[in-house]
Amino acid sequence: MKFDTASDKVANRVKKMRTSAVRDLFAAATRSDIISLAGGMPDVSLLPEKNVRIAAEAALGEYRSQALQYGGTTGRIETCAVIADIVRDAGIRCKAEDIILTTGAQEALDLFAKAFIDAGDIILTEGPTYLGALQAFSAYEPEVITIEFDEQGMRMDLLEEKLKELGKGAVKFLYTIPNFQNPGGVTMVPERRKRLLELSHEYDFMILEDDPYGRLRYDGGHMVPLRAMDDSVVYLGTISKIFAPGLRLGWIIAPQDVLSRINLVKQGTDLCGSMFDQVMAEHYFTDTPWKKVLQSFVDTYRTRRDAMLEALEEYFPEEATWTHPEGGFFVWVTLPEYVNLVSMLPVALDHGVIYTTGNAFYPDGVTGSNSMRIAFCYETPENIREAIRRLAEVIEDRLEMYRAFLDAGAI
Ligand SMILES: Cc1ncc(COP(=O)(O)O)c(C=O)c1O
Repeated sequence: MKFDTASDKVANRVKKMRTSAVRDLFAAATRSDIISLAGGMPDVSLLPEKNVRIAAEAALGEYRSQALQYGGTTGRIETCAVIADIVRDAGIRCKAEDIILTTGAQEALDLFAKAFIDAGDIILTEGPTYLGALQAFSAYEPEVITIEFDEQGMRMDLLEEKLKELGKGAVKFLYTIPNFQNPGGVTMVPERRKRLLELSHEYDFMILEDDPYGRLRYDGGHMVPLRAMDDSVVYLGTISKIFAPGLRLGWIIAPQDVLSRINLVKQGTDLCGSMFDQVMAEHYFTDTPWKKVLQSFVDTYRTRRDAMLEALEEYFPEEATWTHPEGGFFVWVTLPEYVNLVSMLPVALDHGVIYTTGNAFYPDGVTGSNSMRIAFCYETPENIREAIRRLAEVIEDRLEMYRAFLDAGAI
């Protein structure tokens, strides 16, 4: 049998998956004078080279026969024990056996979706939410319903309203990033965390807590993770923001009946994660004063966050509002509904600055077109200031145009 193109044979669920026009545009954005506020890359130049080298040498030397070999699907028990120590520090009590190691938190999102989503299942998320989670979930064809947040995290009044409308047992799970949300930068306050847990029992849905940024707090006190408040929560973590995303290592902490299903689907996905990455990370966290290194990340990112917030205050027009993150990597900016930041992106690119358009973070790919995510994690404070200045110029041009339309009664 012959077929001309893959499109004849591709699975229906893949046909429905969206490619990102924005990503294509970024690929074209290779000019050296462009300042990017688009990506969420940690600054790995901050890592101590000597310690990274020592960890790599452990994986290549003494532990080579394990680092270069297949391992168990759930991950090296020694590495799990190190991860258990790291999360204990954030208030989560767990044993090495309560953890499955994954290829970044991204694989954990896919495995959870693979194990728990049937086509048509209802899933709740913050709106906007992490693009990579939407991509992972969409392959399993759920109906994703978003709940708005404000500066105190997901709005529990709106959540409760939606749950009442849908009824008990209608929602499979709720996905949340309670700390320094991606893309919103907002953090769920303790009263809302407590309420969310109550609602999950009352309306019978699972909670998937994703916490890549929790250790990157620049002001205010530590917030207790949902998982530390309730053992039924499924918790995802990663070394990407506290060590390095080039080593692909994340984890799922969950009740045993969830872990056994994750184990089952992971066997078919990759047999086991990278043993090399696990051994190397295990040695980095054992042999390096990693909390001291983390403090230097925090100090650097805080300076960049402050530079961004100050520049926004100085340059952005009064029509714009934005979030004030206490940690993480992102600020979420919103303009009046009539401003389309998707069509503005090529113009911003011409002015030497790029951002991620807000619609990328909604399941319909349309909502949020008047918002943008801007990241302060990667560029220097000087570049961040300059990027915000350039962006403000482009926005001001647009607003002038819209103001003229408004005056003429055209919108
Ligand atoms: C909220 C969220 N979850 C998961 C991930 C994926 O992390 P990892 O690098 O561990 O795959 C990211 C990456 O930016 C993220 O922002």
